[in-house]
Amino acid sequence: NTKGFIFDLDGVIVDTAKYHYLAWKNLATSLEIPFSEAQNEQLKGVSRVASLHKILTWGAISLSEEAFNATMNKKNEEYLSYISKMTTSEILPDVVRVLDFLKETNQKIALGSASKNARIILDKVALKEYFETIVDGTNVTKAKPDPEVFLNAAEGLQVPPNQCVVFEDSVAGIQAANSAGMISIGIGDKTVLHEADHVFRDFTEMPSEFIKELIKK
Ligand code: G6P
Ligand code: MG
Repeated sequence: NTKGFIFDLDGVIVDTAKYHYLAWKNLATSLEIPFSEAQNEQLKGVSRVASLHKILTWGAISLSEEAFNATMNKKNEEYLSYISKMTTSEILPDVVRVLDFLKETNQKIALGSASKNARIILDKVALKEYFETIVDGTNVTKAKPDPEVFLNAAEGLQVPPNQCVVFEDSVAGIQAANSAGMISIGIGDKTVLHEADHVFRDFTEMPSEFIKELIKK
């Protein structure tokens, strides 16, 4: 049996959520907008443009188009300075074990991320060659929870959506997987990701037996 396994990137493969948080936090502070970790949770899986719109709404601030773009670029430059220092040590625990298991069992593997920096990050952590298809923020027009990113990944893998499994850490991403008709696996908090078909704290808690069962389904 061959299935399509689609991985989100930020928060699933690498812990870049902390870098997004730092960069947004500094930006919000410079605009005198309070910014908490709970608000940051709402930005997970959300595109760069949509994230800035949300932050400005929270601060009841409006910016000209020019200032908006400059602000977004500033955030990304800070973020890039963090990720430029990333190494393989920042791959989340047991991600490589799961990727290797999927390869050994001839499964198809794709990336489905909202990030425009996805390829840079995969290069940094030397995981690019695992992915047959990469769909990222540069290839999609509709952000998660729209299923576009995952449907494109399934198409790239040439696997029907109902034969695909998605690993996601964000609420928007789980909703996207569900509306694509795929099996959704939450990586993170059960309460936050309650809409997922299954939830694991992280990959260390996901036995190979579980993956075997998914493949058989
Ligand atoms: C992921 C992250 C979001 C981020 C988005 C866009 O979905 O979870 O926090 O805003 O990607 O990332 P980018 O690297 O393009 O700014
Ligand atoms: Mg994510």
